[in-house]
Amino acid sequence: MDSLDHHLLSSDSPDITLVVATPAERIESIRANGLAWKGPLSMDQYIAREDFLIKEDMVKDGGMTCWVLVDRTLPPDGRPILSSCESIAKQTFLAYNGNIETVISHGVGSVYCRPEHRGRGYAKRMIIELAKILDTWQQEKGQPCLFSVLYSDIGKSFYAAHGWHPYPSSHFTLAPAPGAAQTANGSANGRTKSVDMTIVKDMSREDVHEYMCSEPVIEHHKQKLREASMASQAVMAFPPDYAHMSWHWARDEFYSRILRSEKGEVRVKGAAVPSRKVFVTWNKKYGATQKDCTLYILRTQYEEPTSPAEEEAVVEALAGILRRAQIEAQEWKMDHVEIWNPSPLVTKAILTADANAVETHREKDSIPCLKWDGNQHGYGDSVEWHLNERYGWC
Ligand SMILES: CC(C)(COP(=O)(O)OP(=O)(O)OC[C@H]1O[C@@H](n2cnc3c(N)ncnc32)[C@H](O)[C@@H]1OP(=O)(O)O)[C@@H](O)C(=O)NCCC(=O)NCCS
Repeated sequence: MDSLDHHLLSSDSPDITLVVATPAERIESIRANGLAWKGPLSMDQYIAREDFLIKEDMVKDGGMTCWVLVDRTLPPDGRPILSSCESIAKQTFLAYNGNIETVISHGVGSVYCRPEHRGRGYAKRMIIELAKILDTWQQEKGQPCLFSVLYSDIGKSFYAAHGWHPYPSSHFTLAPAPGAAQTANGSANGRTKSVDMTIVKDMSREDVHEYMCSEPVIEHHKQKLREASMASQAVMAFPPDYAHMSWHWARDEFYSRILRSEKGEVRVKGAAVPSRKVFVTWNKKYGATQKDCTLYILRTQYEEPTSPAEEEAVVEALAGILRRAQIEAQEWKMDHVEIWNPSPLVTKAILTADANAVETHREKDSIPCLKWDGNQHGYGDSVEWHLNERYGWC
């Protein structure tokens, strides 16, 4: 490849094109970005991870596309890959004026340029070409694409210049906590309040499916979006469905099998206080170093309390399940628990579970960004992003 470098095209050349990678080019792209993203895996394990994840419902059967920026005059396989990325076609809820529809939006990820090709404008050209392609890509019956999202790891300005504007990107970090899962009134580490753990139940996959992803629950979210869209502008949300959660869990399961084999199957997928209708589901991310090992709260579900007494009960229940997450983090040797964009009520629960929990406003990594094109199709100037929690990350 290096010997070809001096022939590389200028990034504004008309010969540059963005195309779907061949199977071999997909592997070549994974191998290249693996240098940045394989973390604690070997390269072969990282490639195996990608082949494992692509079988998940959220992305299988062409749901995920690998794109490569190439010279159109060169034949597939063997042409230099100037830059690469992926898009995932996602069924997404969009509410406007009290009506809701399910549209195909795209999640863009794995934007990558090999170190030796950087600084020549290839990633920028790729993003410009991608924006044009996604207008119609994988839409049914010629529908326009109304929006796409990505999670920027390079700050807020580059993608904003191309239409992907940043949305709220805060999180709280809680420390892992020792303790048996069902210890009554277990105090985590002497610096937090005592939390009643007797009401907290572990959730399996099936439990999460029943309590957080069932048809009535999803219908409830749709109703909330409809209502929100009557009061303001267009409102979107990724359905917090089983396919989303499963895709995240599959990552966790793949890594855990390799890196925590002594612990066996990842059985616990979240925690609940069913009597108070409070639930969270989580997954674990294994980074290259211990400090990058995170237990992510993918989604927090509760019903808005209608009285101060109810609020107190919900906060207490939430604190219990967050404590359970802290214990899970400790058991699986995670560095911390992270929860994205918590509501004021969830924030109260976080500070009950860990008085020293720290809030961070991310400026560089995992910034949710959305490119809104609904304005060109009669859906108003902007869109609110509801349920902007970790489960939507891709
Ligand atoms: C980020 C990356 C794709 C940029 O590739 P590139 O081909 O060198 O980018 P370009 O030459 O097209 O530059 C595009 C713009 O991004 C900016 N940029 C590049 N790397 C950046 C970084 N790490 N942080 C902030 N901005 C960055 C450039 O300054 C440039 O800005 P401009 O348009 O105002 O001139 C490449 O550095 C990379 O693969 N990094 C590792 C993986 C990664 O972080 N990917 C991004 C995931 S969101």
